[in-house]
Amino acid sequence: MLTDELRAEVARLKTERDAVVLAHYYVPPEVQELADHVGDSFALARLATTLPNRTLVFAGVRFMAESAKLLSPDKTVRMPDPAADCPMAHMVLRETVAAARERYGDDLAVACYVNSTAEVKSWSDVCVTSSNAVKIVRALGEKNVLFVPDRHLGRFVASQVPEKNVILNEGFCPIHQDISAAEVAALKAAHPDAPVLAHPECGPQALALADFAGSTSQIIDAAVAGEARDYIILTVDGVRGELERRCAGTGKRFHFPATRPVCPDMARISVERLVACLREGTGEVGLPPAEVADAARRALSRMLELGAR
Ligand code: 13P
Ligand code: SF4
Repeated sequence: MLTDELRAEVARLKTERDAVVLAHYYVPPEVQELADHVGDSFALARLATTLPNRTLVFAGVRFMAESAKLLSPDKTVRMPDPAADCPMAHMVLRETVAAARERYGDDLAVACYVNSTAEVKSWSDVCVTSSNAVKIVRALGEKNVLFVPDRHLGRFVASQVPEKNVILNEGFCPIHQDISAAEVAALKAAHPDAPVLAHPECGPQALALADFAGSTSQIIDAAVAGEARDYIILTVDGVRGELERRCAGTGKRFHFPATRPVCPDMARISVERLVACLREGTGEVGLPPAEVADAARRALSRMLELGAR
């Protein structure tokens, strides 16, 4: 429970530091409450390039803060907990990319989910997020697309863009992959009229039971626009707060898997760490070496350009 004193202190520190707080939907609800902007990965990445403040505080995992720093190198970017990292961000080998480039030559694009390190981005031609991966892969000139690191989002993209030869890598999000089809089936049995709204990082069996697949913002928008009363939500349960806020007064109900999907890295972003970061100026995110930063920035900028069309 946030006190008025704490809210006032956070507001004062933001003004003093000329700082703005951006939070992903997966961080704890009280951190979302203290943020100036809450969104999905794509919305936050795009927004971060437009904000006038000197300091961007990213309440999320490392790849989000790192992307903001790459796109706004002159800004100070901070993380409330620099140890908050996405395990999937590391799940691709350079040899995998090199082997695909060797095999397909110029007719290959490497599409990299933003949930990746700056180094992985630097090996890639374009970044994507879950909200624009289908659109961007469809718009690429190359026939062959190596999709890294997430095999599940890659498989979903392949199903939506059958004209491309999408080559999958072995990475995955442990939290979404663990959402079991049996639990989804149990939820469907309990709520037979409820649409199933899923994140495409879910495994194929769970995703096969979904009526809609999209990013966190797209899931929230679909529930807000929907006419049903009950919704089965297959993503990290940090989205619950925004769902309830946006659907307040409608009587809509949201059902999550019994094994509560929580991202332990996003959960590291506590109110205490956010306040300490603002107060003490900790958790500054630096740039990688110039050649990595330049190549990773190119892939990110291409996403912003193709994603906006
Ligand atoms: P988005 O819906 O923001 O793409 O979230 C996926 C995710 O796992 C962020 O870590
Ligand atoms: Fe990474 Fe999954 Fe956590 Fe997102 S939810 S940050 S993909 S581990």
